[in-house]
Amino acid sequence: KLVAFAAIQGAYEIVTRVEGIYEKALEKYGPEQKLAFPNTAYYLPIIYSLLGIPVTDMATAGKALKVARKLLPAHVQNFNHLPYLGPLLDAGMAALFAEEVLEAIRYFEQPDFYTLGEECDPASGKIWLGAADDTILRKRGVEFVDGSAPGFAAIVGAAPNAEIAKEIAEEYQRRSLYVFMAGNRMGTTFTEQLIEAGVQVGWNTRLVPFSPDISGAVFALGFANRAAMAFGGVKPGDYKKNLLYNKDRVFAFVNAFGEVNAEWAANAAGCVNWGFPTIADTDIPEILPTGVCTYEHVVGNIPHSEMVQKSVEVRGLKTIVTKVDIPLSYGAAFEGERVRKDDLFVEFGGKKQATELVEMAEMDEIEDNKIVVIGKEMDDVKKGDKLDLGIYVQVAGRKFQPDFEPILERQIHHLINYAQGVMHIGQRDISWIRLGQPAVEKGFKVRHIGQILHDMFHKEFGSILDKVQVTLYTDPKDVKAFTEKARAMYKARDSRVENMTDENEEIFYSCTLCQSFAPSHVCVVSPERTGLCGAYNWMDCKASFEINPTGPNQPIEKGECLDPKLGMWKGCNDFVAKASRGKISQYNFYSIVYEPMTTCGCCECIAALLPGCNGVMTVHRDYTGETPCGMKFTTLAGVMGGGQSSPGFVGHSKYNIIQRKYIAGDGGIKRMVWMPKSLKEELREGLLRRGEEVGVPDLIDKICDETIAIDEASVYEYLQKVGHPAVEMDPIV
Ligand code: SF4
Ligand code: NI
Ligand code: NI
Repeated sequence: KLVAFAAIQGAYEIVTRVEGIYEKALEKYGPEQKLAFPNTAYYLPIIYSLLGIPVTDMATAGKALKVARKLLPAHVQNFNHLPYLGPLLDAGMAALFAEEVLEAIRYFEQPDFYTLGEECDPASGKIWLGAADDTILRKRGVEFVDGSAPGFAAIVGAAPNAEIAKEIAEEYQRRSLYVFMAGNRMGTTFTEQLIEAGVQVGWNTRLVPFSPDISGAVFALGFANRAAMAFGGVKPGDYKKNLLYNKDRVFAFVNAFGEVNAEWAANAAGCVNWGFPTIADTDIPEILPTGVCTYEHVVGNIPHSEMVQKSVEVRGLKTIVTKVDIPLSYGAAFEGERVRKDDLFVEFGGKKQATELVEMAEMDEIEDNKIVVIGKEMDDVKKGDKLDLGIYVQVAGRKFQPDFEPILERQIHHLINYAQGVMHIGQRDISWIRLGQPAVEKGFKVRHIGQILHDMFHKEFGSILDKVQVTLYTDPKDVKAFTEKARAMYKARDSRVENMTDENEEIFYSCTLCQSFAPSHVCVVSPERTGLCGAYNWMDCKASFEINPTGPNQPIEKGECLDPKLGMWKGCNDFVAKASRGKISQYNFYSIVYEPMTTCGCCECIAALLPGCNGVMTVHRDYTGETPCGMKFTTLAGVMGGGQSSPGFVGHSKYNIIQRKYIAGDGGIKRMVWMPKSLKEELREGLLRRGEEVGVPDLIDKICDETIAIDEASVYEYLQKVGHPAVEMDPIV
């Protein structure tokens, strides 16, 4: 019971110390001094999610500290005889509330301590990333939703040396887990050990340096709680639901490297509230009786070579190491790592031509696992070379259809990126691959690009294909001919999809992938209404159903059309009512005003009605500024991301804006009066095309953006000035 005592002792120390720092800051800056983690709508997320207190300034932070103080058990000395966990868990919680306030104070007292954004730059000393902003939460949180990240390891302290740190981190990367790092072991940090060993750290490699201090543990727990609010519809203040949600759905645990002192023990006790156990490399006596969870809360004395395995076992996590027959580590965590100029051995594409194409073949036309390189292989290449490359993947299978070609082709990007030390950018005829020196030293060859695609296509699409053959061209003459053929195919494909209409298809597809986080949310994807996350169009859903007939994408017979203008079908309503368990009985595909579709937290954009402009605005998640509807993207997503249908607002994908049925029931694209400039630019080509189609060729220039106005009255003024069509249209409501 020694460490249990230490945990309570530690909590006292932390709360008392933070109270002192708080008092001093209060004296210096006053109660109105603003307190915040930058670019987030979740205030201080642990306090907000569990206590329901939105901390915005010193005064509100004081309230949270009072709660922390109250939570500390009254009689520490009697703890040895405490029969249950309550006081210990409370003490841990108190420590975390206090630490969150501490970090918020640090954000304004030392504004340069943490680096904004996703990336570290060790060369300039920018290592510590602090609290994830909402853009990162959206992007990364989704990976916890769709299962591409099974969970995270929160590492505190430092390994005995850099080599061990590297081994452990890479082992987690191979299992696609995130590693969140905080704290130090006598001044040494796990993060700096990784940097010393040449490992890239940052959100993009899933090795996230939060803070050199143990108080940075709150960034990991805060991230988990925000995910529960953003994707699970858990309400702020509902601490039971939030903690249970994490225990059941976020597979996380703590690895403590170094002597578990009183403060660490307090944090470990705090983590038990989330159901996150601690696995330590030092000898610690049993600190917590089992009973709350099905597993041990704290396990000590684990050798470094068994740390990863033991952690995963204790938390009951099934992670699968992807096996592909190449001489490099392989997995999602390596997707974001770069090959920098200094590490570069050879590149394909960029200034040279690199093209990729997936094409269906007849069963007897190709040979499975036949991988041929025509032209130079790595043995003929020297450092610094730049080459052309053609990646020609032929796929055959009894269930394979030409419609699946683009779906497989789109996978090439991340599948190649998953190889450690290999970087892939772009797609189709503008792809670009870089091989780093270490990858080449380990024996990576051009042939292995084909090997990756063969192995992974079988693994992920085994139910629709039987054979994969890959031909790799490196001779410029061959690449040129291949590129011409590929371009003709892209063109044919694009026009096939663009010409599909909702009227002409009887089958739509459901997507319920997000229900694990937003339980009443149901997407129905039609040819002209792509899923709101942007990841699933009609064709993707069709393929996904063929690949996995019992999966989240089910065919829906759209049935009788109940409203052709607003877009409502009987068959879709029936499905939605059932799939939402009666929460939603019907919705319209083409309206923001009348019973719009449900919205979940991972939508790419959110549109909002602007009654004063007789139109709508939309905003995408990368735009963090103000908008004319008075709410930023994060606020909008927080208000409506839980799977409700909210008249006046609707989530949609970027691509949907330039689809013909976009809010067609309310007047269509001619109602678009405001969107962020960057989104306009991204969709420029499509907006020009749609403008032509609706008889307003310069519509794109008539749509207002943040460089012109961000309040509704000024937006309207602009619309009048440029003669925006919405001004003349019938009232939208
Ligand atoms: Fe989630 Fe809808 Fe995208 Fe499916 S289509 S992943 S339900 S947002
Ligand atoms: Ni890579
Ligand atoms: Ni979603």
